[in-house]
Order: sequence, then C-alpha cells, then structure tokens
Amino acid sequence: MTDQNHSLKAVRVVAPPNIALIKYWGKADVQRNHPAVGSLSVTLDGLHTETHLSASSSDQFILNGKPAPAMAARAFAFADAMYAACGEGPRPSMAIQTDNNFPTAAGLASSASGFAALTLALDAAFGWSLGADDLAQWACRGSGSAPRSLLGGFVRLDLAQDAERIALSPVASAQDWPLHLVVAVTSLAQKKTGSTEGMTRSRGTSPYYDQWLATHAADLDAAQHAIAARDFAALAEVTEHSCLKMHAVMFASRPPLIYWNAASVAAIDAVRQMQAEGLQACFTMDAGPQVKVLCTAECADTVADRLARVTGVDTVLRARVGVGARVLDVAVSG
Ligand code: PMV
Repeated sequence: MTDQNHSLKAVRVVAPPNIALIKYWGKADVQRNHPAVGSLSVTLDGLHTETHLSASSSDQFILNGKPAPAMAARAFAFADAMYAACGEGPRPSMAIQTDNNFPTAAGLASSASGFAALTLALDAAFGWSLGADDLAQWACRGSGSAPRSLLGGFVRLDLAQDAERIALSPVASAQDWPLHLVVAVTSLAQKKTGSTEGMTRSRGTSPYYDQWLATHAADLDAAQHAIAARDFAALAEVTEHSCLKMHAVMFASRPPLIYWNAASVAAIDAVRQMQAEGLQACFTMDAGPQVKVLCTAECADTVADRLARVTGVDTVLRARVGVGARVLDVAVSG
C-alpha cells in the first residue's frame, strides 16, 4: 500500500435506482453528458446498489461477485476524472465491490444507482465533502439518470438556464405520496444497445426527435402539477404519454431501437385492462423490455398478482417510493 492510500477511507454506500415518469432521452452535450431534456422520476425503496470502496494495492472492480471488465473501465475512468478534479497527486489504487439486489443492465436503472453510489463512495472515501449540487454534477457525468438517485421521493432534473450545469430539485417526498412500483421482469438479458449509443442514434436519425424536444417541457410541468395535486389520473396520463413518445422516437430511429418483447406488450395490455376495471395504475418502460407499473398502495397487491400471471413475465419485483442514496459507514482502511 502506498502512502496516499492512508488517506483513503473504507466506505460503504447504498443507492436506489429511480424510474423516470417523464423520460430523459437525448444529450445536449455528449462530453459533459448533459441531457437535452429534463426528467422527473421516482426513487425506489426495496431495490438498491450497495458499493464498498477501500484501499488496495491495485485497482479492482467486482460487480455482483464477479470481475466485470467493461463496467470496471467505465467506473475507473469516472474515478480518474473525479479524482483529477477533486483530489491531490496521483489517484491511489482502490478496490470497488458493487452489488445490485436486482438485474443489472437490463433496463432497470442499474447505471443510475451504480453511479450515484460510486459518486457518494468516492466523495466519502477521500473526505471531499462535496455539496449536493456538485455531487449531482458528478453523478451526471457517470450516467444522465444517476443524479436523480441522490434524492428521495419525486425528483426533477433540468439543464440549468446557462446550460453549464444540471439542476436537481425535490418535487415531493415519499411520505407526501407513498405510491408503489411493481416491475414485470420479462427478460434478464442485458440490453443490446446502451442508452448513450441509442440516444446518439435517435438524435441523428429519428424524424420525431425534434418534436420530442419541442413537446417535452409541457409534459414535465403537467407531471409536476399532477404530483402537487396528488392527481393520479393526470400523472398516469402524462407518464404513459412520455414513455410511448420516447419509444416512438426509438422505433423511428435508423436502425430502429426496439427494446420491447412480446411479454412487454402483454404486460401493458394487462395494465390497460386493470385501468378499465378502475385500478389506479399506469405503466412505463425504459431502454429494456421490463414494464414498470406505478400504482397506489391499495391496488399494489392486485397489480403484482395480475402481472405475475401474464404470459412471458419472468418475475415481479416490488418497490415503493423511497429515500435517496446514503453513506452507510466510513472507516479508516489499511
Ligand atoms: O442514465 P442513462 O444514460 O442510462 O439513460 C436513461 C434513459 C432512460 O432510462 C430510458 C430514461 C430515464 O430518464 O431514465
């Protein structure tokens, strides 16, 4: 162990994934990873990434108990950039061990929880004590959806007016509106096209991309008003609209980005049937075939039972709106 490693504390942090109700798709600045559109999400309780970071004689990265070279390269490139800006001298080598209690890279926001956790872990391990705004900027460098996992409840992310920074704001807490989220997992395969590549393709080739940008602000405002009024029907309408509009942009990209499978369609059909029966539930999907269903606490058991019976649904995961990422413990390592 080098001398510098003595300044590195062993830390354990936990970060939840978040699911966007109003979606982010498209980058304003690829270099800084700034989003072209704002987004509004719910942070989840029950699913999480737990990351341990400690001093080591060489860089090591273990994801879900196994070496993961592609993710290791991404994580250490991020650690290098953050250390170059916030640390002093050469970056000490470190061991990063990260575990997800839900499927990784399958459209379940593991990059959001993963980079929120890594940002907090690096800050705590090196004792930088960055403010919330700086942590959000760094998390965004790792993954555009990651800053939202730093906060709990309903969270809005915008590009600041000067387009130099992102702005993260809490919209409502988990206690304010304790909704549930049920995930119909329809495939555990890792996604074929990552979100950065997909967003670049949509910007370059989808005839609907400009309309996506032009109509986005109204969706964000509608969702924010619906949350303030605890108006589930209004939130459901704009949530499904934002999801379907994003997927329309994806479908019309060249080559097309089709993240859906047959079971995704069947699960959406089941949600529409439940809505027709009066249940307060609505669906959304990201860059993967899982269907995420936001619903009231009263109907969460029914939603979970019904989704579990849909042909092609592999498993059903349950979560509630919850709190944001946090440091669990910090100890002197070595
Ligand atoms: O943070 P990224 O680069 O994985 O992008 C996330 C994109 C979507 O999940 C499709 C939408 C969103 O806002 O989370």
